[in-house]
Amino acid sequence: MSGGSSGAGVVVVGGGQAGFSVVSTLRNAGYEAPVTVLAEERHLPYQRPPLSKKLHTEPEDIRAGLVPESFYRERNIDLRLGDDATAIDTAARTVSTRTGARVPYDHLVLATGARNRPLPVPGAELDGVHALRSIPDALTIGRALAAARDVVVVGGGFIGLELAQVAVTHGARVTVVELADRLLSRAVSPQLQEHLRERHERGGVRILTSTAVRSIEGAGRVREVVTDQGVLPADLVVYGIGAAPRDELARDAGLAVDDGVVVDAHLRSVTDPRVSAVGDCARHPHPHAHGLVRLESVQNATDQGALVGRRIAGSPAPYESLPWFWSDQGAVKLQIAGLRASTDEVHMVPGDSPERLAAYAFRDDRLVAVETLNWPAEHLAARRLLERRVPVRTADLVGSTLGALARARRTSEVRT
Ligand code: NAI
Repeated sequence: MSGGSSGAGVVVVGGGQAGFSVVSTLRNAGYEAPVTVLAEERHLPYQRPPLSKKLHTEPEDIRAGLVPESFYRERNIDLRLGDDATAIDTAARTVSTRTGARVPYDHLVLATGARNRPLPVPGAELDGVHALRSIPDALTIGRALAAARDVVVVGGGFIGLELAQVAVTHGARVTVVELADRLLSRAVSPQLQEHLRERHERGGVRILTSTAVRSIEGAGRVREVVTDQGVLPADLVVYGIGAAPRDELARDAGLAVDDGVVVDAHLRSVTDPRVSAVGDCARHPHPHAHGLVRLESVQNATDQGALVGRRIAGSPAPYESLPWFWSDQGAVKLQIAGLRASTDEVHMVPGDSPERLAAYAFRDDRLVAVETLNWPAEHLAARRLLERRVPVRTADLVGSTLGALARARRTSEVRT
């Protein structure tokens, strides 16, 4: 146990992937003091990625949770479902909860995640208009999809494109309405966005970019979506227009917040080192980024949770994990390794089959991120090279792939 402990142990706020990672790591690392999880949701901690990909086929698998309830019992983890934190007193080192408890801590870990941005148009409250984040949302959307004929998806980001493909497999007519002039503009390079659009259109999804939703109309239930490009019939509307970090508990407690809880390289609050933040709600330095970043991904949630768990159990280290990411959009598997922001050059390379494609992103003539479509081997080669910080220059990849480059370098290492 690290210094200055009173025996009160660790309180984790948030029962998602990041919170789970903290507490499982603590116990695996031999931490013996009390561990409490304050979780707003009533489900055992579960994986969110399948919600937008498999909600129609595997809801029971998702509901089963990351691990069964016995996991927490056997490890003496006090998992309080449906009892979320309402206030933090950093001077007294206590957390107040909805049920009126005040839980003391030596270390507090905020793993509060993010919330969906609400759709800011009249009619968003009508029946048949849904956002997706939780198991109950997925079950509701899954049931609605079974009966839907005309589905309008607002937002051409990860949720929108994954759900659009799920809706197509249900036989619905699907239109994606995206405000920006491209799909996935936050996440992937412009060159790849064009390919993704083509593939979605080939897969039967109608895509409207540079299009704003004005209102959603219907008498109690959605009937149509009014956009600045015309009216779309709809019996189901699903929107995914981005997420915002849940950092208000930290802000109200006087901790530094700037679109996320601001933490140092060890993921400790820059205001109070007894508080850490992990996952979607944390804004942190990263060796692969310029300045602070906030990453919304399972890899980040899992790795940050584990890092803080190990630190509290006595093995501190700065956070340096390579960011990686995936999205299954019908027949398209998109994978991303590294951070693309502020790259100055992107090279597209076709794979050895028409479905495969890679985009190599460079900053100052050094490879910093790789996006692939349907090419897992190339993604893995990218992860290996970027993790080891092996320098790869633009010239190294002329007429070559990362897989081929890695093989050639291994061969020359063996020869020398
Ligand atoms: P996102 O940021 O990926 O995409 C939001 C999209 O909505 C953007 O293309 C944006 O331009 C567009 N948009 C914003 N305002 C709009 C408006 N008023 N009308 C139309 N379009 C508008 O966020 P998304 O898809 O909502 O996902 C939320 C969170 O869930 C993110 O953290 C995302 O990373 C995560 N997620 C991750 C998945 C994965 O790992 N494969 C799958 C699904 C969600």
